[in-house]
Amino acid sequence: MNQQEGYADEIVKGFIISSMVWGFVAVLLGVLISFQISFPELNIPPYLSYGRLRPIHTNAGVFGWGIGSFMAFFIYITQRLAKNRLWSPGLARVQLWLFNTVIALAAVTLILGMNRSKEYAELEWPVALLVVVLWVIFAVNIIMTIVKRREEQMYISLWYILATLVGVAILYLVNNAAIPVSLTKSYSAFAGANDANVQWWYGHNAVAMVLTTPPLAIFYYFLPKSTGVPIYSHRMGVIAFWSLIFMYLWTGAHHLLWAPVPDWVQTLAMGFSIMLIAPSWAAVFNGYFSMKGEWHQMQQNYLAKFLIFGITFYGIQTLQGPAQAVRTFSAFIHFTDWVPGHVHMGALGWVSLVLFAAIYYTIPRLYHTEIYSIPLADLHFWLAVTGQLIFSISMWIAGVQQATMLNATNPDGSLHYSFMETLIELYPYWYIRAGGGVIYFASLLVFIYNIAKTISAGKAQAVAQKA
Ligand code: HEM
Ligand code: HEM
Repeated sequence: MNQQEGYADEIVKGFIISSMVWGFVAVLLGVLISFQISFPELNIPPYLSYGRLRPIHTNAGVFGWGIGSFMAFFIYITQRLAKNRLWSPGLARVQLWLFNTVIALAAVTLILGMNRSKEYAELEWPVALLVVVLWVIFAVNIIMTIVKRREEQMYISLWYILATLVGVAILYLVNNAAIPVSLTKSYSAFAGANDANVQWWYGHNAVAMVLTTPPLAIFYYFLPKSTGVPIYSHRMGVIAFWSLIFMYLWTGAHHLLWAPVPDWVQTLAMGFSIMLIAPSWAAVFNGYFSMKGEWHQMQQNYLAKFLIFGITFYGIQTLQGPAQAVRTFSAFIHFTDWVPGHVHMGALGWVSLVLFAAIYYTIPRLYHTEIYSIPLADLHFWLAVTGQLIFSISMWIAGVQQATMLNATNPDGSLHYSFMETLIELYPYWYIRAGGGVIYFASLLVFIYNIAKTISAGKAQAVAQKA
């Protein structure tokens, strides 16, 4: 098949550009809410207050930037690994419109204060129903393309893609079960501790099925493509895949340690979280071992830098995650800024770096041109890594500082510091985080400029060829 003409790639362009727009919104809002924490007078109630903007930030980041790009690359990768055109390009076009409509509706409803108060499942039922339709369209299209594939072997990325499609569907349907009382209000079908348990079963598996399996699918595809080296061990990848999927499903209650959910549920979550180190690091080793004899590419090939730093941040995060799932450690860092430090090591380091690499790889090919500027891509890389590390490390230190203060007791056993006193000590760290955010935002502007110039050069060349 003629790759450029045979595959439904126009739609991939649409998803990449949409996800970049939502990524821009997410990072801009991230910087804004960082400043709102540092300078509370920047809160303008009700619409521009932290409480309204924070969920828009997380939805735009995880769903707009994350899932938007995953849709692009699942369509791109599946066609190539299945050696088959997308089952229905028409459905994919509907999906693109619906995707942008849903994210825009999410932003509007959240800013108006319509919120189910469940983290990562905030959207009220009419929007949630649209998400279900969106996901069904997406899943059917990809699964049918895989079913009708012309290549017998299922490359590792396809397993991760299938897990994402099935996993998200199950999680979303169960956790969104609700009883509507009006067009803008519903109540969860679960109550009390059960509700919390279901919510965090969903919540952490959103980490698994949105922030882990899709970037892994993309990493496993684009590392060999970008560097020309084969993946070190396909078998290790597949074994790690099945154990990762099996283990993740039990870990949700590590968000509820010391909460009134049964002790055995917490212990189970703790045990499986620790075991997760093995399949997570299998992917890290697979990446590192693939580069054996090719490490010079880290200097010469900017894509290798994005991908290998990305998987390294994944490695750090999947050591940190199991550690903070241990009861005693959780008691120390839960309710502190340590957790946003953990989150953004993954969101800005792991997920975003891998997505940047995939976009840098595909855009020039989709527009039949070269990347506009490799020095600018390098600048983007260093600014992004610097901003991300300033964010994560400042929050880890802030978390430890706050944890020690919260745990300090007087000789009579009473608390030495009030919660407010701990917050006042955090201001310097919040300023530093906001600074890191500004650097990351600058890196994003460089990235968008580079990609926009590449696209316009590709379009200009296409026009010149036709003339
Ligand atoms: C420079 C860019 C960014 C900045 C400055 C930023 C800033 C923030 C801030 C201040 C919070 C609230 C933390 C708190 O609860 O105290 C937050 C939460 C969050 N952000 Fe970002 N963010 C950025 C990019 C992103 C991106 C790109 C994603 C997703 C891919 C993301 C995902 C999240 C998530 C999931 C949370 C909730 C974390 C939690 O509940 O612990 N962020 N962000
Ligand atoms: C071995 C893998 C991992 C384990 C065992 C793990 C464990 C944990 C634990 C225990 C928490 C709760 C911290 C607390 O509130 O006390 C947490 C929070 C979180 N983790 Fe991880 N983590 C892992 C990997 C990842 C990865 C790869 C990401 C991707 C970005 C991620 C994203 C998040 C997010 C978004 C939260 C915040 C949830 C919230 O409170 O809103 N984690 N993780």
